[in-house]
Amino acid sequence: MSFSGKILDWYHQNKRTLPWRNTIDPYNIWLSEIILQQTRVAQGTPYYLRFIESFPTVGHLANADEEEVLKLWQGLGYYSRARNLHATAKIVVNEYKGVFPDNYKELLNLKGIGDYTASAISSICFNEAQAVVDGNVYRVLARYYGVDIPINSTEGVKYFKTLAQKVMDTEQIRDYNQGIMEFGAIQCSPKKPLCLHCPLNNSCVALQKGLVEQLPVKLKK
Ligand code: ADE
Repeated sequence: MSFSGKILDWYHQNKRTLPWRNTIDPYNIWLSEIILQQTRVAQGTPYYLRFIESFPTVGHLANADEEEVLKLWQGLGYYSRARNLHATAKIVVNEYKGVFPDNYKELLNLKGIGDYTASAISSICFNEAQAVVDGNVYRVLARYYGVDIPINSTEGVKYFKTLAQKVMDTEQIRDYNQGIMEFGAIQCSPKKPLCLHCPLNNSCVALQKGLVEQLPVKLKK
């Protein structure tokens, strides 16, 4: 079976039930992805739920006082993320009539939305074939394909995005993207990955070569 087929099978058997997995509303997906960017699922989930309760739509968030937004964010750190969140909500309301663009290219035009977030929203909400590349994806691809190009080099960023696009499942992109991230978080974890019981262990280059602990490579800057 292909790499993507195995990721999909694994995901269908192991995925966690999470509050943003029962919606494809771009506001909900955007919010969850911003919260999860530097935060683990277990820590981020209660924040997501409180945000959705306080600000059920992007309009509610845009109209909120910055103080209120920062207060809800308390404990997550990186307060610039909360300020950017608020700023992007205002842009969506003021420049896009409160409606998120429905494709990767236009999402990227939105100040505050980069490659990762545009890929996540366009694939999860609109089924567009855009592979997400986050820390989990770097790790899974670097290990499975035995790639030692530094993930934080210009070359690495380009290489891994191209590889991610090449190996994704275009038919089930929504589940595939969430699946590879979930696989990285739970199975192919940074420390003590579960290689012994991994469905990809007979074709994982890093495992065959004894390089699991060495990959991915990250340059100290
Ligand atoms: N990490 C960030 N976003 C995620 C998602 N949608 N599914 C699994 N892990 C994630």
